Amino acid sequence: MTSTVDPFGRTDKLDNGMLEALVLRFEARGKHPQFSKMLRDYLDAMDIGATATVLDVGCGTGLAARAIARRASFNGTVTGVDLSPYLVAAAKRLAAEEGVAERLDFRTGDVHKLDFSDGSFDALVAHTLLSHVEDPLSVLKEAARVVRPGGTVGIFDGDYASLTFGHADPDKGKALDEALISALVTNPRVMRQLPRFVRAAGLELLACFSWVLSEAGGANFWSSAIEAYRKLVPKSGVMSEEEANAWAAALRSDSDEGVFFGSSNYYAFVARRPLGPYGRAAG
Ligand SMILES: C[S@@+](CC[C@H](N)C(=O)[O-])C[C@H]1O[C@@H](n2cnc3c(N)ncnc32)[C@H](O)[C@@H]1O
Repeated sequence: MTSTVDPFGRTDKLDNGMLEALVLRFEARGKHPQFSKMLRDYLDAMDIGATATVLDVGCGTGLAARAIARRASFNGTVTGVDLSPYLVAAAKRLAAEEGVAERLDFRTGDVHKLDFSDGSFDALVAHTLLSHVEDPLSVLKEAARVVRPGGTVGIFDGDYASLTFGHADPDKGKALDEALISALVTNPRVMRQLPRFVRAAGLELLACFSWVLSEAGGANFWSSAIEAYRKLVPKSGVMSEEEANAWAAALRSDSDEGVFFGSSNYYAFVARRPLGPYGRAAG
């Protein structure tokens, strides 16, 4: 079942106010120690070569691309592709500000149909993309196509079916969680499909990582999420602006009073495009 309202899957149609809210959220969560550790953990497992060419699909502001470029063991190049010209411009600006622009290239494009020939990259990352795309399996097949035989693919995302916030009334909390997920995530259970999708895309599964990102008492990671969601959710029609403001205000107040709870599971899968016989490209 897919939703048509997910703002993250139609960033080419959002106004600049919404897009700026996304920029702030992507950059804020990128600085959170657990979020950056999750990225580091699966990049380590991908074992990206020193001079590799890497593709970051659904790059947003280029968080993963910049993290790869900054790795001490890496002096290759990273190309980022995103649907939104606004986010691509932000990615270029942030890369320049961090002094890594010369090894990064950002461009607009749709990850369902990448404008690269077969086997163009040594590695590919999809960092919180698949939960938002129309057809995750076709995106994974495109990933498998543009990576060379023997190249690695890293897929990281929230298991957003598990996204939940505490509420004084558990029934109301459950209804609000469900409204939020349906407004913001096209494929909230996609990470549970990944073992099947990896195989269907012709990739070999190498590793799976799992984390719970939960905060109790005060909100930190979740506070920038709540602020972005407050602005995005009314666009879906699932909550009015007034309802979204009330939802966010209640969670902020929980945090101020030290009774906040917010949580989601996250997973990363590392896969490889198989080598053919004698270490050559299959087929
Ligand atoms: C949740 S954001 C993640 C951004 C970035 N990877 C990060 O972790 O900060 C999902 C990104 O995927 C992009 N996106 C969604 N659907 C896309 C598509 N079909 N083609 C290209 N990019 C897409 C959005 O524009 C957005 O930047």
